[in-house]
Amino acid sequence: MQAALSCHTDGVYWDRERDSELVCLDVRDETHDIRTFTFRAKDNRYFSFGAGQYFAFEIPGDNTVEQRCYTIASSPLRPRTIAITVKRVTGGLVSNWLHDNMRPGMTLAAQGPAGAFTLPAGKTGKYLFLSGGVGITPLMSISRALADAAIPSDIVFLHAARTPEDLVFHRELALLASQSPQFRLFMLPENRGRNGGFSGVTGRISQELLALAVPDIHERVVMCCGPAPFMESARTICSALGVPAHHYLEESFNAAVLMESEIDTPVSPDVTTFNITFSRQDRTIQALPEQSVLAAARKNGIRLPSSCANGVCGTCKSKLVSGSVDMKHGGGIRQREVDAGMFLPCCSRPLSDLVIER
Ligand code: FES
Repeated sequence: MQAALSCHTDGVYWDRERDSELVCLDVRDETHDIRTFTFRAKDNRYFSFGAGQYFAFEIPGDNTVEQRCYTIASSPLRPRTIAITVKRVTGGLVSNWLHDNMRPGMTLAAQGPAGAFTLPAGKTGKYLFLSGGVGITPLMSISRALADAAIPSDIVFLHAARTPEDLVFHRELALLASQSPQFRLFMLPENRGRNGGFSGVTGRISQELLALAVPDIHERVVMCCGPAPFMESARTICSALGVPAHHYLEESFNAAVLMESEIDTPVSPDVTTFNITFSRQDRTIQALPEQSVLAAARKNGIRLPSSCANGVCGTCKSKLVSGSVDMKHGGGIRQREVDAGMFLPCCSRPLSDLVIER
């Protein structure tokens, strides 16, 4: 299915190993606090990505570069541009920087594409898309791509947000629904908001609501993306309604490392541990050989930037000053960066004592 949802022309393509510069083409308000930023490659290369994948964007910070992952909301079948849709978040360094500073004509560094939250190959053509807030972006890209490719798909799309004013893309989704009887749309604001013009159902997703709205839910592939509590509810409800575990997919940034960071670092002198020193913070912790550096840091209250926790986004990239690691990454770092002494703590396990420039 992904092959049908990607575009290949004879043009020159963005090379994820080599290319990194984007030019902003357009900034558009979607809601009162959500904007879409559209970019092209600096030399007008085509993009090749899977609907549901993301890029890691870099913005200048105080004496450093901040990196965050944003899922591409646009269709891969329109390969001249990529668009990200970003919500302004209180205290959100990168999201606020984009809202406050990014304007057409400006350039920005990014790496990608990466990510595995894409339509599964060989599964049924019946889907339930569940999105909360700005977690709608991967499902928007998939819906746009299916529409662009004119692939007949039986889709129920349920999008939840706080108020009707927060429902992003509602006009475009309503248009998709009006063009296909097999595309059913449910917009679910938690409350009626200030304007009071919304006449549909309000509230949170519940077992009763999904059983009524999607009676054949157990026959569908469910794809879910949103805030962690939303995904937790969705997972529980779908399981209770008979969705097999292998038919339930969610975008789970950081889930692996959060679980891994629960591992207790033993104090027994019989167990081998390595010292990991974070030079800028002047802190040294102990880590097990089977623990990732990121998980060990978290366990000890040291905050490192991270996003995918799977070695694909590059957010946690750090300088390894000394020591060696076993790194099994998924494309989040380039060979020339490894050659320059960089590594990804989220997918690296210590093979010796380490000193990290963090
Ligand atoms: S957090 Fe994504 S590569 Fe480490």
